[in-house]
Amino acid sequence: MVGDRPWFGTERMRIAVVYDTPYVDWSPEQHAAQMAKDLANARKVEPEMEWQVAKALQTNGHDVLVLGVHDDLRDMSVRLAEWKPDLVFNASEAYLDNSELDYLIPALLESEGYRYTGAPPIALLVTRNKAMSKKVLAYHGVKVPGSRTYRVGESPAEEITLRFPLIVKPMAGDASEGISQASIVHDRSQLVDRVAFVHERFAQPAMAEEYIEGRELYATMLGNGDRAQLLPIVEMIFEAAGSRPEDRIATQSAKWDLGYRKRRGIKNVFARRMSKVASERLARTCYAAYRALWLRDYARFDVRLDKDGEIWFIEANANPFLSYGHDSAEAAHKAGLVYNAFIQRIVDEAMARDA
Ligand SMILES: Nc1ncnc2c1ncn2[C@@H]1O[C@H](COP(=O)(O)OP(=O)(O)OP(=O)(O)O)[C@@H](O)[C@H]1O
Ligand SMILES: [Mg+2]
Repeated sequence: MVGDRPWFGTERMRIAVVYDTPYVDWSPEQHAAQMAKDLANARKVEPEMEWQVAKALQTNGHDVLVLGVHDDLRDMSVRLAEWKPDLVFNASEAYLDNSELDYLIPALLESEGYRYTGAPPIALLVTRNKAMSKKVLAYHGVKVPGSRTYRVGESPAEEITLRFPLIVKPMAGDASEGISQASIVHDRSQLVDRVAFVHERFAQPAMAEEYIEGRELYATMLGNGDRAQLLPIVEMIFEAAGSRPEDRIATQSAKWDLGYRKRRGIKNVFARRMSKVASERLARTCYAAYRALWLRDYARFDVRLDKDGEIWFIEANANPFLSYGHDSAEAAHKAGLVYNAFIQRIVDEAMARDA
């Protein structure tokens, strides 16, 4: 057994990996079979994050239950009560296919007294609402771009006090959903159109934010309290881009479309050199935001570093993407935690905290 999990001396645990699934009628056996099939095909198609997490936990010697949730929290509740996990690994990103309802899963786990990994409902709710999280952070002295929120049906008034260009985003968006080159607006008429587009397309408030010119940095936090640690910073670089803001933002294509990334010279690398002052500011921002937003175990922040060395807070991601080879796992790897050790560390952190 020791050979299977050379990094940690923790006990073998019963860990249920909970995740959202589109498959309403699947039995637990069907989920497990799909996991085995996808992992066997991993060289060709990247397996779902929950399979990667479950596999890492198994390799680390734990008993693992994979528990897909689609539209029935009672089913999750019954199955957890039967299986009696020591810990639930929350790998869910949505409920009822709706990422805005992601908080319901930890809310139920909490009400039933399960210990689970990652953010509590309050952190999921506050970080999902980009306007709310920025207000909290501004109170704590974190630099946030000027912004204005337009509720569905509201249109920008004649006088715009924000400084153009602006970036217009769905207020509760994820994975750069609704972020494209057209999100950058240079005048009021473009702003009006884009706000209307966000309302129509996403049926949610639109947030217009001052565009911050600067380097795009991703910072992962790991651990809690005194053990909280800022992992090495990842940077998205736009090698072939011009100076237009449109070409220098992490759109959906810039993030997920490999062909587009290649054509545009877009890469994620470990952050290039930055001044001591900037890196201190970055660390201070991350620790302050982690605490202020009630984040736990792990989280990822998107920030920008401007030419004056100022750090601007762009977005907090509670329970960020954990797949192998992506920003947070790469940052952990650089800090000496290979993938299975990274996943184990999240387990250890979740077990070690007071609540
Ligand atoms: N105020 C801003 N100034 C400059 N660029 C911005 C600003 N806001 C957003 N961006 C760009 O748009 C990208 C996506 O914005 P944001 O992170 O808010 O949205 P998201 O869809 O929630 O992203 P994620 O995929 O990280 O969840 C950022 O990574 C950044 O490149
Ligand atoms: Mg983001």
